[in-house]
Amino acid sequence: MGDRMQGKKAVVVGGGQPQHDLLGNGRAISLFLAREGAEVCVVDRDLDRAEATVELIRKAGGTAQAIVADVGNVDDCARLVEDSYSAMGRIDALVNNVAINHVDADPLALDVAGWQLMMDINLRAMWLTSRAVVPLMRKHGGGAITNISSIGSRTGGGRMFAYSISKAGVNALTHFFAVSFAPDNIRCNAVLPAWVLTPHSIEGLTRHGWVPSREELEERGARFVPMNRMGSAEDVANAVLFLSSDDSGFTTGLEVPVDGGALSVIGRYEKPQE
Ligand SMILES: NC(=O)c1ccc[n+]([C@@H]2O[C@H](COP(=O)([O-])OP(=O)(O)OC[C@H]3O[C@@H](n4cnc5c(N)ncnc54)[C@H](O)[C@@H]3O)[C@@H](O)[C@H]2O)c1
Repeated sequence: MGDRMQGKKAVVVGGGQPQHDLLGNGRAISLFLAREGAEVCVVDRDLDRAEATVELIRKAGGTAQAIVADVGNVDDCARLVEDSYSAMGRIDALVNNVAINHVDADPLALDVAGWQLMMDINLRAMWLTSRAVVPLMRKHGGGAITNISSIGSRTGGGRMFAYSISKAGVNALTHFFAVSFAPDNIRCNAVLPAWVLTPHSIEGLTRHGWVPSREELEERGARFVPMNRMGSAEDVANAVLFLSSDDSGFTTGLEVPVDGGALSVIGRYEKPQE
């Protein structure tokens, strides 16, 4: 156990995951914050998934509790913050991790219901949980909000149209909260993962038929990513840990790519290494 989050109380929204040999981002973030001393409220719409994360934290000697909420529901977004505050007495760090893309398509094929669902879950929910937490953080002298975005927020093309736009909105939301609440010592930053090997990325990409298998995904990642490998949920969690802790006390409004250099490839003239 470390002490970078000692005495702090954290809420991770989307902190569960299905059973898998790999860690997903939300569980990795919850485990890393707890390992550094934070008490954690693990929020998920699926109780079993949240409880499995809580169990892992407790086994490692940490303190956590599960909260069930569906961030597609407006009232749940405020309620999950209130329940976390009641359980822990304060909230120092909020991590907004939930996003979906299973109903996405290209700009011509996407239907309006799919667009709306992704805007509500990927973007509106981050506004609503952040809006609910600001007055509580203010009361206790500040806090850190970290939103999980994607490098999809900076790129075009393909079949993740609404997802990319929702994540661009997450970046804008992050800047807006950062500036609006900087005087209250409330920081707000975004992490932009890409090419991260998680249960969700494997399941999503193979279900759409965009890659045939986990092995093929890893192989493509190794070819495309300048660092010649896919990232892990642990890579994402390390960035979130930094942004949630006092180590980043003067950092706000930042978009942090966790992508092995993939974003920096844009504009390069020579072909990426084969
Ligand atoms: N994995 C990647 O390669 C990658 C790349 C870029 C960005 N991201 C971002 O990382 C985040 C998710 O990480 P992950 O893919 O490892 O998934 P994850 O393992 O962290 O799982 C997310 C959890 O969110 C929960 N959830 C889904 N809808 C919900 C809802 N409406 N209300 C409450 N909980 C809900 C799920 O039950 C699941 O347990 C997303 O913001 C995603 O956009 C991931």
